[in-house]
Amino acid sequence: MSGNQDQIDYWNGPAGQRWAEAQESLDRTLLAISAALLSFVAVKSGEHVLDVGCGCGTTTLAYAEAAGREGKIVGVDISGPMLALARQRAGSRPIQFIQADASVHPFKAEFDVVASRFGVMFFADPAAAFANIRKSLKPGGRLRFVCWRAMMDNQWATAPLLAARDLLPAQEPPDPNAPGPFAFADSARLNGILADAGFKNIKIAKLDSEMRMAPNAREAAQFSLGIGPLARASAECDDATKAKIVMRVAEAMKKFETPTGVAPPAACWLVGASA
Ligand SMILES: C[S@@+](CC[C@H](N)C(=O)[O-])C[C@H]1O[C@@H](n2cnc3c(N)ncnc32)[C@H](O)[C@@H]1O
Repeated sequence: MSGNQDQIDYWNGPAGQRWAEAQESLDRTLLAISAALLSFVAVKSGEHVLDVGCGCGTTTLAYAEAAGREGKIVGVDISGPMLALARQRAGSRPIQFIQADASVHPFKAEFDVVASRFGVMFFADPAAAFANIRKSLKPGGRLRFVCWRAMMDNQWATAPLLAARDLLPAQEPPDPNAPGPFAFADSARLNGILADAGFKNIKIAKLDSEMRMAPNAREAAQFSLGIGPLARASAECDDATKAKIVMRVAEAMKKFETPTGVAPPAACWLVGASA
């Protein structure tokens, strides 16, 4: 037992479905962050790569491209709906997708790289999870991932929530370290988790980027209702309330409009370590 059942239920329920449906717009939104991650991971021809929390497979496909025919690429995720899309997108490429909890899956020490785009912040016991993930690396193999800094530094997340605040059901103040998108905001805590898991040469660097959410503020508002903290907070709202939320959030997102779309700032960590 990993203690991750809540997350397994979450990512196999409506949220996983919404993520699969939003794959194309999400990938457009994350384009700049993904480019930074891919050059940081720097997969070389022939490398063996494990993509943790691979979701709909976008980064997994990119690693396969970089590793070429001699490479070995595996994506692991708990979400059935997202993996179904990942497998469909991979077609006949020799990519293996495993539906499993990465915190307890019995990996063999066969990978040069473990990478993740926002897929490692959801473990109930992060040090135990990373210790298990470390076992998948060859000696000296590298860990490379991107995760969010604090929610208050990520206006793509806070602006929609603040705009809709009085229309949302009352919520307990969140535990900042609880499994979830912002669980690794505290870099000292993250460093400790990775050290406890046995990783060496840990480096946690700021990545200041953007979320290219949509061509206009109204679509950015609709995106926020499907993906991110507002989506979680508004899940139980009725359709009339959601319509009001969209109007409010659209107004709030106007300040992030640029000539090429709505692009609020995004604050991430690029995290590297070796086994
Ligand atoms: C924020 S999404 C990111 C998905 C994908 N990497 C992307 O960038 O589009 C988080 C992903 O982590 C997966 N996940 C959460 N807990 C997991 C676990 N214990 N083992 C494997 N995957 C997990 C979820 O199912 C989900 O696909």
